[in-house]
Amino acid sequence: KKRVFSGIQPTGQIHIGNYIGALSLWVENQAKYDNIFCIVDLHSLTIPENITADYLRQKVREAAALYLASGIDPEQSTIFVQSQVPAHAELTWLLNCVTPIGWLERMTQYKSKSENVESVGTGLFDYPVLMAADILLYQTDLVPVGEDQTQHIEITRDIAQRFNHLYQPTFKLPEKLIRRSGARIMGFDEPTNKMSKSRAEVSDRHAIGLLDSPAKIKNTIMKATTDSDRETRFEYASPGVKNMLVLYEALTGESRTEIENHFAGSGYGKLKQDLVEVVVETLRPIQNKYQQLMEAEDYLTKVLNEGRERAQTIAVQTLNQVKMRMGLK
Ligand code: AMP
Ligand code: TRP
Repeated sequence: KKRVFSGIQPTGQIHIGNYIGALSLWVENQAKYDNIFCIVDLHSLTIPENITADYLRQKVREAAALYLASGIDPEQSTIFVQSQVPAHAELTWLLNCVTPIGWLERMTQYKSKSENVESVGTGLFDYPVLMAADILLYQTDLVPVGEDQTQHIEITRDIAQRFNHLYQPTFKLPEKLIRRSGARIMGFDEPTNKMSKSRAEVSDRHAIGLLDSPAKIKNTIMKATTDSDRETRFEYASPGVKNMLVLYEALTGESRTEIENHFAGSGYGKLKQDLVEVVVETLRPIQNKYQQLMEAEDYLTKVLNEGRERAQTIAVQTLNQVKMRMGLK
C-alpha cells in the first residue's frame, strides 16, 4: 500500500475548509492507503502569540478527538502528536543544513503570515523545513492537503532531491493529493480570500468551525457575502455563491449538473437554506462523537500512545539512515 502522511495545526478552530480540503479526503481514502496523520503542534509554535501551555495541551487533545470523530479509524491509520516523536525536530536541523535560504524566502505563506506578526520568529521562516521533515521521515508517497500547501510540497521534493543528490538516494519524493473541487474553500465574509483559522479569530462571519452550533452555522451562512444577481451556475456565479455551491458539492457528493438543476431559477436564498441543512447534518454526528471522545480520556491517550510508538519506529529508521549518510553515526 502507498503511504499517506498529512497533518493539521491544532491551534485555532478546525473549520469546514480544513474538513473538506484535508480531513474528509483522509477519511475517504483511508482503506486504500497506509495512513499516518499527525497533529503538528510544533508548527503551532511558529506563531506564538496567544498560545499558552495549557491552551496548546488542550487543543492537541481536541484535534485528536476531531480526527477520530471525523472518521479516522485508529485500526487503519496512525494518529500521533508531532512533538512526541523527537525525530521531527532532529531531522529538521539536518535538513536546514541542506536548504538554501533563498528557497524559504520565496514561500508565499511565509510572506503573508509574517505581515501580520509583530516580531517574526525564526521558526516561522523555517516552517517548510519542519514540514518537509514530517513528510520525508515516513517515506511518504502521497500528501492529502488543501491547495494552499502546494508550494510546501514542492519545496519538500526539492529538499529531498537535494539531499539525495548531495549524499545518497535516501528520501522518496512525495506527491500531493488534492481535491479537484473544494481544495480552496473561501471565507463566508470575504469570498475572495481563503478560509483561514487566523481570520476566523477576528471575524465570526468568516468560517464555520466543526464544533459550531446549528444556530451559529445558520447565522454564518445566511450572512454570507453574495452578489445581487440570481446566478447559481458554477461557472458564472459570483465568488460568494460559487463558494457555497462548491461546499454543497463537496458535502453532498452530487454532480454539478444535479446541483445546478436543483437550484435553477430559485436564486441563492434556497442555496443558503439548503446549505445550512447539509452542513448541520454533516457536523451533527461528528459533534456527537466528539463529545463522547472528549469524555473518554483514557481512550484518547491510548490511541495517541499507540500512534506515537508506531510513528517513532518508522521515523527512527529514516533518521538513522540520514545520520549514517551525513557522518553522524
Ligand atoms: P491548517 O489549518 O493550516 O493546519 O491546514 C490544515 C489542512 O487544511 C491543510 O491540508 C490545508 O491545506 C487545509 N486547508 C486549510 N484551509 C483550507 C481551505 N480554506 N480550503 C481547503 N483546505 C484548507
Ligand atoms: N503546513 C500544513 C498546514 O498548515 C500542516 C502540516 C504540517 C502538514 N506538516 C505537514 C501537512 C505534513 C501535510 C504534511 O496546513
